[in-house]
Amino acid sequence: MSLSPNVAAALETQATLELAAAQNYLAMSCWCEVQQYDGFARFFRKQAAEEREHAERLLKHLTDRDVVPHLGAIAAPNIAFKGLMSVAQAAYDLERANTRGIHQAYEAALAEKDYPAQVLLHWFISEQVEEEAWSDKLIAKIRDAGCSGALLSLDRHLEKILGGDSGAD
Ligand code: FEO
Repeated sequence: MSLSPNVAAALETQATLELAAAQNYLAMSCWCEVQQYDGFARFFRKQAAEEREHAERLLKHLTDRDVVPHLGAIAAPNIAFKGLMSVAQAAYDLERANTRGIHQAYEAALAEKDYPAQVLLHWFISEQVEEEAWSDKLIAKIRDAGCSGALLSLDRHLEKILGGDSGAD
């Protein structure tokens, strides 16, 4: 089934959004590393790798259907965070934007009766439920931590559960 221009454009837009999320998570990871939050740094590195993988899924679908994707420009990510809470809020906003983009792409696939794209996007719709859940939890945990000692203990906990590898699994 050939890809309609509307669905192709929606998938290209979403691929760019996923790559922009990867850039932003990379910037957050660097910020955390400089602030000595090694667990959070590892966590955001892992998110950056996942976002890139999400973009790859969309690009593969496009190329499998004979479309050379147009990738959009990505704005430089913010690096001026006031603290961990503002990093968590930025992650929350990124995930909400990703969900909106996925839903728009799905609506385009529905309108064009593009069943393969709908199946592809089902995976993303479920994934966004998980992505929003962790971003909610991150805000709640940081709010509950309250003081710098509790934040460091949360950071060590993250480092422990994410293991000693690069975190990009
Ligand atoms: Fe590709 Fe964090 O969603």
